[in-house]
Amino acid sequence: MLKKTLGAMATVLALGSILSASVQATAVEGFDTTQHSLTAANSPWVLVNKKNPLNPKNYVPANLVTPKQFNGGGLRLAKPAADAFLKLALAGKAAGAGSISIASGYRSFTRQVAVHAEDVKKFGVVAGEKLAARPGFSEHQTGLAVDVWAPSQGCRIRVCFATTKAGKWLKTNAWKYGFIIRYPDGSYPTTGYQFEPWHIRFVGVELTTEMHARGITILEKFWDYPAAPKY
Ligand code: DAL
Ligand code: ZN
Repeated sequence: MLKKTLGAMATVLALGSILSASVQATAVEGFDTTQHSLTAANSPWVLVNKKNPLNPKNYVPANLVTPKQFNGGGLRLAKPAADAFLKLALAGKAAGAGSISIASGYRSFTRQVAVHAEDVKKFGVVAGEKLAARPGFSEHQTGLAVDVWAPSQGCRIRVCFATTKAGKWLKTNAWKYGFIIRYPDGSYPTTGYQFEPWHIRFVGVELTTEMHARGITILEKFWDYPAAPKY
C-alpha cells in the first residue's frame, strides 16, 4: 500500500516537472530568433564587440533624432532608441529615480576616434580599451546605445552610478523599455569592457523580455557568440 502511494506520488511529481518544463519551453520557443539581423548595422539586434565591428566601419544611421527631453546636451539617438528612452526616462522620473538623462548618445566614427584616444591617454591602453571602443567597434555609432546619468545625483560615467537612485532603478527596470545594461559587473571576460552601469543598449522589448525570462544578461551569451575580450 505504502509502495503504491509512493509510486502515485512520484508520478504526480514527475508530471508536475514535465508540465513546468513545457511551460518554460513554450516561452522560449515562442520567441522568433530570426526576426532581426545580428550583423546588419541598422538592425536593433546588431551585435557589436571587439570581434564584430560595424559593417561598414564608418556606418552612419539614417534615422538619427534629437530627443527634446532628458537631453541637456542636444545629443542624438536612432529613432527607435530615442522613443524607448523617452518612455524609460518618464517612468524613472515617475518612480522617483530622478531625471535619467543622456550623457552620450550617437557617436560618429570620427567622434569615437577622439573618445578612444582620450581614454587611452588618460588610463593607458589596457584600462583605456576596457572603457572605450576603437572607432568602428562602438555601439554608440549605431545610435542604439545611451550613456545615462541623473545630473543631480552625480557619478557621471563612473562606476558609482550603480549606487545612485537612477542607477539602481535602471538595473531593475531598463529591460521593460527594451534596454539592457550592456556591460554588467564581471562581464569583462565576455564583453571586453569593464562594468559600465551607465551604458544602456536598445535591443527592443521582445529581446529584453526573453533575456529577462531566461535570466541571461549578456548579449554574447544569449546568442552563443564567442567571448570577445580582445580585438
Ligand atoms: N564605452 C563603450 C564600450 C564604447 O566606447 O562604445
Ligand atoms: Zn557608452
